[in-house]
Amino acid sequence: MSREPVPGELAEDPKLGELYRELQRDLEAAGSLPAIEDVRVAFLGRKGKITSLLQGIKDLVPEDRKRVGRLGNQLKGYAERALDEKAAAMGDLELEEALRREALDISLPGKCIQRGSRHLLSQIIEEIEDIFIGLGYQVVEGPEVELDYYNFEALNTPEWHPSKSLQDTFYIENPKGDYQDVLLRTQTSPVQVRVMETTPPPLYVISPGKAFRYDVPDATHSPMFHQVEGLVVDEGITLGDLKGTLEYFTKQMFGQERDIRFRPHFFPFTEPSAEVDVSCIICEGKGCRVCKGSGWLEILGCGMVDPNVYKYVGYDEESVSGFAFGMGVERIALLKYAVPDIRYFFDNDLRLLRQF
Ligand code: DAH
Repeated sequence: MSREPVPGELAEDPKLGELYRELQRDLEAAGSLPAIEDVRVAFLGRKGKITSLLQGIKDLVPEDRKRVGRLGNQLKGYAERALDEKAAAMGDLELEEALRREALDISLPGKCIQRGSRHLLSQIIEEIEDIFIGLGYQVVEGPEVELDYYNFEALNTPEWHPSKSLQDTFYIENPKGDYQDVLLRTQTSPVQVRVMETTPPPLYVISPGKAFRYDVPDATHSPMFHQVEGLVVDEGITLGDLKGTLEYFTKQMFGQERDIRFRPHFFPFTEPSAEVDVSCIICEGKGCRVCKGSGWLEILGCGMVDPNVYKYVGYDEESVSGFAFGMGVERIALLKYAVPDIRYFFDNDLRLLRQF
């Protein structure tokens, strides 16, 4: 009901005309469905203004009854229509508003779910495992708390070897109360002995895990670090097999364009022994700060298994031969991703970890 002039006959009756305008005003002011309902009750409810008017007709003088009755019913009709129209319009409006309010705004940026990832060192270990699994190796594990026998003695390491000193190895009090034969393994090599003890050749295994040394932490040292050990024992294994295997591994790990070289070295449990260098990943062999100008980076130790080791595990040194190698996981990660400090790996700083 818009603000239109009071229609014809109604306008002639001041009381009804005023009621009409009042209804118009109230309805115009009603801004919600409940407010419109209030107007309906106020005019058409049991005690509403129009209802009361119609109920009062019977008390009027006879000559007014007919006219007021007709006009009153006309007004009632107007009121009903106007209320219904306004309620319907308001209902549409409210529905529209609700739809707008509850609508899904697909242009809003989504909630970002933070996803975790494996630690870089775990990723590198997995990568190394995958390369060797592809060559038919099995992955085995050994204990971090070891006996002197496995960590040193059966690996042909003499009593006087510097790595056996208290300055290098974390010894643990044994049941007898002294510090001689229980220790935190200083390398993953003892797993070689444990595997050979329980498994007859042929053997193609790698063994990743933690190792511990009595070192003060600095950019390149950590008292706990990770190694991956490798061991192959079979009939007729030669130094050529070792070189070919490690060349394949290095190129898989660091890129086909890398060169490797073997430098003679000494390890008690291999003879001959060598250290393996890869051409510098940063300067590609030209010489830089990382490779200290040499163009090469040392990445692992290796050699042909010393026949003395076979004696400890009951292998027949005449019928089998083999090679072994060991590499530092942190060192590989440092080199591959040019991380300047080994301690970053153990700080758990998400700014570093999130990059991998
Ligand atoms: N265990 C040696 C180390 O920690 C690394 C190593 C060298 C492992 C030669 C081997 C090997 O298996 O043959 O420095």
